[in-house]
Amino acid sequence: MPAYAVLGAQWGDEGKGKIIDVLSRDADIVARFSGGNNAGHTVINEEGKFSFHIIPCGVFWPNTMNVIGNGVVVDPDVLLDEIDNLRERGHDISERLLVSERAHLIMPYHVALDNLSEAALGKEALGTTGKGIGPTYSDKAARTGIRAADLLDVDSLLPRLDGIIKHNNAIITTIYGGEPISLDDVFAKCKEWAERLGPFIAPVERIVHDALKANKNVLLEGAQGALLDLDHGTYPFVTSSNPTIGGACVGMGMHPRFISQIVGVFKAYCTRVGTGPFPTELSDETGEAIRELAQEFGVTTGRPRRVGWFDAVAAKFSTQINGYTSAVLTRLDVLDDFDPVKICTGYELDGEITTDFPGGVAALERCKPIYEEMSGWSSPTASATTIEELPREAREYVDRLQELIGCPIDVISTGPHRHETIRVRPLIDAVSA
Ligand code: GDP
Ligand code: IMO
Ligand code: MG
Repeated sequence: MPAYAVLGAQWGDEGKGKIIDVLSRDADIVARFSGGNNAGHTVINEEGKFSFHIIPCGVFWPNTMNVIGNGVVVDPDVLLDEIDNLRERGHDISERLLVSERAHLIMPYHVALDNLSEAALGKEALGTTGKGIGPTYSDKAARTGIRAADLLDVDSLLPRLDGIIKHNNAIITTIYGGEPISLDDVFAKCKEWAERLGPFIAPVERIVHDALKANKNVLLEGAQGALLDLDHGTYPFVTSSNPTIGGACVGMGMHPRFISQIVGVFKAYCTRVGTGPFPTELSDETGEAIRELAQEFGVTTGRPRRVGWFDAVAAKFSTQINGYTSAVLTRLDVLDDFDPVKICTGYELDGEITTDFPGGVAALERCKPIYEEMSGWSSPTASATTIEELPREAREYVDRLQELIGCPIDVISTGPHRHETIRVRPLIDAVSA
């Protein structure tokens, strides 16, 4: 049963892109199952730096097929741009990319509605990426979405699109005072997308199922993170899909018996972009120092990421939902110059101490972190490739995190490049790094 899920375990941006690039060397398929181009996944290799928003991070291994599952929302213009950019940089992936016929499309009115609704919320805005993600998933649930398969039969789409655009234009103009979207323009786009994207649209779920049956390796590429999950995250300050393990099954049309490993990617501290509770947030010079040192700025929007100490209460909750078989710890090197380093092991909530992650956002806002302090390490961990190279204090920090996360940390990342990776134990039997 060779499907391996690699999931964001915090609020996104844990370094999934680097880890998926490393782990996918021997993967037959790398599959995105949720989110859209709200994601920004960074891969750095000999050819430079690449930022992926929608294309899976397996593209640098020539034998790997990259697929976009039914749970993903696809902005066709963004996908086509990404394909073109990759081609310009020497990677033609036209034979190695497939898009599920069931994937929903992000339409121009979704992007407009995302931005108009955020603007209308003013100070209460969620801080979305403005890419149309929420409105596209809303339409999916309301059964007024457009799917990739609709492009294959574009003329029959027109009457439905007419009704959907009338409905959305009524909201755009009446509620938000925005500019209506032209049916003719959108339909012209659909025809262009049909031509250019048509060859990529396929019954992805069956193809992946057949590959698994044939004992091929499938790496499920997570986007976002557990605490941004629509159901389990810090609602309403979440994204509109399920980046957790259940989302991998639904978003790839794959039953759970195929999944043999669930890998949670954790940063050695925490970050968050956008609004919402963040108990360990550092609004002081330490937070600023980490942000500057680690260049914690969003890949998709360029916004500064909020920074805080590692939150083990949130981590335990993340493990509870996802059932990680392994953890990957990234960006350990960022903490090289900090002494002491702190770990939040509990919250004080209304005078009581708890290690449970509250479901209500108001309660989470009232939580005050309880910290355990650990000694910093005096020598660098940056670029280390063996556990023996880590200073004793750094190993103690990793050990303590492992205990609190509740599953083995099998990989430690000590820099953004592929080789800056410590394999503590073989993580994925069939996939070497
Ligand atoms: P993703 O969304 O989870 O793929 O993560 P992002 O790409 O948005 O952000 C992670 C950032 O950390 C990127 O700039 C990576 O190049 C970088 N990165 C990943 N792993 C490490 C690491 O171990 N050390 C350092 N210093 N940077 C890392
Ligand atoms: P990767 O895959 C970090 C956040 C946004 C906002 C909230 C809702 O790179 O880890 P949305 O546009 O999804 O409706 O915004 O979710 N968000 C992310 N934060 N990394 C991401 O993806 C994110 N994708 C969405 O900042 O707070
Ligand atoms: Mg990111």
